[in-house]
Amino acid sequence: MARPMVIAIDGPAGAGKSTVTRLLAQRLKLLFLDTGAMYRAATVGLFDAGINVDDPQAVAAWVCQRDIGFDAEGQVQLDGVVLPRARIRSPETTAQIWRVADNVGCRAHLVQLQKSLVAGRDAVVEGRDATTVICPDAQLKIFLDASPEERARRRLSEWPPHQAQPSLPEVVAQIRERDQRDSSRAVGALTLTDDAVHLYSDGLAMNEVIARITAYAVQRQPFLLENLVADQLIVGRSRQPGYVRVAVGDPAHTTAGWQLGLTNPTPERMPGSTRSMTRNLGGRQAGTVLQGQAILCLAGTAEDPGHVVALPMLPQTWYIIEPGAWHAVIQSHGTICAWAESSGIREEQRDLTNDQLSEMGAYTTVYLPH
Ligand code: C5P
Repeated sequence: MARPMVIAIDGPAGAGKSTVTRLLAQRLKLLFLDTGAMYRAATVGLFDAGINVDDPQAVAAWVCQRDIGFDAEGQVQLDGVVLPRARIRSPETTAQIWRVADNVGCRAHLVQLQKSLVAGRDAVVEGRDATTVICPDAQLKIFLDASPEERARRRLSEWPPHQAQPSLPEVVAQIRERDQRDSSRAVGALTLTDDAVHLYSDGLAMNEVIARITAYAVQRQPFLLENLVADQLIVGRSRQPGYVRVAVGDPAHTTAGWQLGLTNPTPERMPGSTRSMTRNLGGRQAGTVLQGQAILCLAGTAEDPGHVVALPMLPQTWYIIEPGAWHAVIQSHGTICAWAESSGIREEQRDLTNDQLSEMGAYTTVYLPH
């Protein structure tokens, strides 16, 4: 069996982990494991059950008897009962989580549950000890970080409208205190490991953070692309058996000299260099991974292109896979030089939207760091 693709993401509170990881898992069609929700559920249950929370042994004894998991919608369940998001994420719960998170016995039980939830599965695992304890062998480890000030600003911008807002310095102080707790506990402390990508999200929009992590993930497991486009695309072989259509051009020429063509990804044609991603679902376009790091064109049926997914192949050239009807080649300045409808070649210039450009920039940062 192939080794599962696990993306482990740790980072301090408020770095944007939960939203980013949820969307990332959706896009890559991986199981999403929000380990913080399990600590939250245990904390809520503890108080509901009237356990003496000042007695760590009683706390561990109670928590270790609990079954904590998720329903089909990803809502956390305590002994089979869904706990509402508002309850597990309330400030009162957050303030008491340490009673479970700092308790070695509770941690051992939760880690065991977490390991069994992801065993043998492709997953995005998010928490404080995902990269170190739950999934030390993850293929991709991300330490998602942001400055305390940035995190405090984000927290205040999401503050419930009718609740009194603390000041920025107050929130910064709370965040620093929680960081201190999360990174100094005896077991399962938040740690930046040598093999993790330290991703600072200050100044990055959410789509850029997601694009960067996607790029790192695809670098490690190119076949994730199939998941990325599975919903939006009908991919298949070109009319010429064994061929896929790709766009090629000379980076020295900005607009002239670009053309869409066909390439043959089959191992007979390029021995050892390719792995076909072709799926014959609709007789349209397909893609291939060349030399384990490049792409391909993919084409679909929808009218509007959606998210940009780009992979490098030639210097200064990116093949964009758009979950829409088009595949395209763009250059570093962001102009699409040519695009093709999947069933017939046409050429046209088109500018990218600002969102597409920033996503492109995020991919570029990862693929072509210099
Ligand atoms: O990620 P979230 O903010 O929901 O986590 C809540 C708290 O649970 C964290 O501040 C941390 O103390 C604890 N936690 C943990 N280990 C994890 C996930 C969360 O100790 N894997």
